[in-house]
Amino acid sequence: MRRRPPPEGQAAADGSALEARVAERLCYSLAFYREGELVGRAQLHWHDGATADIVDLYVVPEWRGQGLGKAIVRQCVAVARTLGARLITAHTSPHNRPAHRAFVALGFRPRDEEQHLELPLE
Ligand SMILES: CC(C)(COP(=O)(O)OP(=O)(O)OC[C@H]1O[C@@H](n2cnc3c(N)ncnc32)[C@H](O)[C@@H]1OP(=O)(O)O)[C@@H](O)C(=O)NCCC(=O)NCCS
Repeated sequence: MRRRPPPEGQAAADGSALEARVAERLCYSLAFYREGELVGRAQLHWHDGATADIVDLYVVPEWRGQGLGKAIVRQCVAVARTLGARLITAHTSPHNRPAHRAFVALGFRPRDEEQHLELPLE
């Protein structure tokens, strides 16, 4: 598995706010390859000097269920630790069993009750 650093300034395609975050190195994009093919990705967002948030965890469908999701979370933890994080957060629902189990398997635990917001349009 190789990790390629994102091209500076090219990770932001949809808005100046995200561009600013990338420029200030508050957002790291990790891409994972097997035999030259992109198989998964994740982002690390910095919310303060010591907290990293794992965002946009994704494994391409044909590679799911083989441990890659957990491997990506493990790599995110390693990168965040190297960059000085003291706390790593993630946001997912227990209903998303693959994602929830990938985080729990790596030691993540629910901090508080999930709060779901909704807006009925009928
Ligand atoms: C979430 C996701 C990244 C997991 O990737 P993956 O490579 O399939 O994960 P793994 O193979 O490492 O499996 C992780 C855990 O989920 C379990 N799992 C995998 N597929 C599952 C399924 N279809 N149903 C229930 N559990 C499943 C595995 O058994 C493992 O749990 P375990 O360690 O207790 O055995 C992938 O499903 C995905 O990209 N989903 C769409 C995007 C998404 O929902 N991202 C999360 C946003 S928070």
